[in-house]
Amino acid sequence: MRKFSLVVLLVLALSLLLAACGGGGSEPASDSAAVAPRSGGNAANGEKLYKQPVIGKNSAPGCNTCHSLDEGVVLVGPSHAGMGTRAATAVSGQSAEDYLRESITNPNAHVTEGYAQGVMYQNYGTDLTEQEINDLVAFLMSLK
Ligand code: HEC
Repeated sequence: MRKFSLVVLLVLALSLLLAACGGGGSEPASDSAAVAPRSGGNAANGEKLYKQPVIGKNSAPGCNTCHSLDEGVVLVGPSHAGMGTRAATAVSGQSAEDYLRESITNPNAHVTEGYAQGVMYQNYGTDLTEQEINDLVAFLMSLK
């Protein structure tokens, strides 16, 4: 009888320990916030999203349908090589992150020189979640 209760105690202790560990391990959100505290964006998630063929709730074309990450390669829109650096000076008085966010959510606010207005998909601002937009901005910021 004494042996049996000892086993019960052990099992109880083990399951408590497992529960404690499990709770700590399933919080990736706090990790990404630590990486990019300003916008809360996660560049790795942004890169995955950027390279998906269709994204968002209305199955819009993904970014690399129209944008290349290779220097000087124009698909439909401008190459995003060095985008994080270029964004800092794109519009005077606007931070790099704000410029990128606006380029995604309101593409016509500032049309890149040499390209036509209204060609970029216009509804990412409402199709994507705030987190997805933050992730895309974090990814573009990482392209130096
Ligand atoms: C249907 C084609 C198309 C798709 C899809 C598209 N873009 Fe664009 N994008 C363009 C064009 C064309 C321009 C240049 C004209 C303008 O500024 O609107 C542009 C401009 C931009 C710029 C400004 C570039 C610069 O050099 O200043 C950013 C940033 C950008 N897009 C991000 C994105 C992201 C992120 C996605 C995916 C969520 C995306 N685009 C999807 C066509 C597209």
